Amino acid sequence: MTDLHFRLRDALAAAGYTYDVVSDLIGTTAQAALGRNETTPGLRATRGGTPVETLTRMWLLQATVSAEDAERALPGLVDELCAAGILERTLSEVAARVDLRPYGTDGGNLWVASDLTPGLDGGSMRVGSDHVLGISPAATSLAELTVRAPVGRALDLGTGCGVQSLHLATHARHVVATDVNQRALWLTRLNADLNGVSFDVREGSFFEPVAGELFDLIVTNPPFVISPATGERLVYRDSGLPGDRVVEDIVRRIPSFLNPGGVGQVLANWAIEKGTDWDERLAAWLEPATDIRGCDAWIVQREVLDLPSYVELWLKDAGQHGAPDYARRYETWLSWFDDVGVEAVGFGWINLRSRTDDGTDPGPDNHRLEEWRWEVEQPLGPEVAAHFERVTSVRALDDDALLATRPRLAVDVVQETFGPAGAEDPSQIVLRRQRGMRRAVPVDTVTSALAGAADGELTLAQLLAAIGQLLGEVDVAARLAEVRTLIADGFLETGDHLG
Ligand SMILES: C[S@@+](CC[C@H](N)C(=O)[O-])C[C@H]1O[C@@H](n2cnc3c(N)ncnc32)[C@H](O)[C@@H]1O
Repeated sequence: MTDLHFRLRDALAAAGYTYDVVSDLIGTTAQAALGRNETTPGLRATRGGTPVETLTRMWLLQATVSAEDAERALPGLVDELCAAGILERTLSEVAARVDLRPYGTDGGNLWVASDLTPGLDGGSMRVGSDHVLGISPAATSLAELTVRAPVGRALDLGTGCGVQSLHLATHARHVVATDVNQRALWLTRLNADLNGVSFDVREGSFFEPVAGELFDLIVTNPPFVISPATGERLVYRDSGLPGDRVVEDIVRRIPSFLNPGGVGQVLANWAIEKGTDWDERLAAWLEPATDIRGCDAWIVQREVLDLPSYVELWLKDAGQHGAPDYARRYETWLSWFDDVGVEAVGFGWINLRSRTDDGTDPGPDNHRLEEWRWEVEQPLGPEVAAHFERVTSVRALDDDALLATRPRLAVDVVQETFGPAGAEDPSQIVLRRQRGMRRAVPVDTVTSALAGAADGELTLAQLLAAIGQLLGEVDVAARLAEVRTLIADGFLETGDHLG
């Protein structure tokens, strides 16, 4: 920890510059306005001149403050922070050169420094090619997706300002953070110091700085924007590789960097090519290299953007909207999509878990690729961990072992019935989980009865026999596949999953 960072941290704490205090100070309406890049409501709420108001005005709202107020908020630090590139000053005024804001997490308050947010109050959205993002919606989404089990070694690939590493530091003994952008590495080191944690920060492209090493957890929100190679590059979003190759390469390479049982999680965009199902393309990325242990995979397509929406989104993100060559750029991008046969862009999550090699995990890798646009429980990380646990244990059960389990209905499952008003029997029965992915599955009366009776006391064989006596003969063999899916999706729990 550099001494300056240490003293800055103390000053932030002394000023009470924490997420809760700042939220209370500016209130929800001003916070929402700031979310829309508008600072006026926040400025109106911070005119008292207290240290926390000064810091909020300077860093969160990017307002210039008087040198006197700045000195009061950061006693003895202003000149050094200017020399370090964190602030800048004239004789009488001080302004921020980086964004530095409190970040509320389950583990408490953090401070996160990043580059200044562009576009406040209608200002330019343009940023330098080495711009370092702060806490973006994508960063939050990956943080919520991440499996938070205690681990030994974790890798944050393309760390940016280090936000994923800050989360990883709460449950990983050793965190390696890599990036090609020197400015990102500087900000990551600053953030480690401000939050009293230590990262192994390394410069280099993708897996280059960790060649030959293994990890228990790899997370990455890579530069995944799918764009024509125009030579211009914003390093936080453009990989310089064609199409979605950056994501494909990462997905193909992750297994060789995972310890047995290790998890890799990628937030990504992928090209949906004309005449090819999205999941068919991505499934090919999961084919294991011959020398590498297999991985189970769970890929979820959360959103599909049509090409004009995609191009507009990223041209606006780069501050090109309204520029004289906006229409030409738009046209070039769409023509390139045409040329390479892309018809839409998918956005979603790629989760991989390396198979264990202790001999207790037989059967082929489980690759689940699905489209799921519905609301899910957040954070989803615990469900990702549970998903892989469930597929592993279902795979280990042959039919006899499955029949000998004592299934129990998960506590979050409810039954919904539909049908004409007044009808004696419903025309449709649905079991719905209220947690995790909040899945719903239509079932028949036999499976509904099984779900209702599964209380962990009777074996599956006994349950099916009893239901057969009540409702007529049950084809046990045919039911087993359905029961396997119900267990894999968390509707029914057996042994290990009983919570
Ligand atoms: C979308 S940002 C993600 C930042 C941060 N991890 C987060 O979750 O918000 C992508 C990051 O990848 C980095 N990056 C770009 N090209 C890279 C490369 N070839 N190797 C490693 N990192 C790279 C960028 O500098 C940027 O910090």
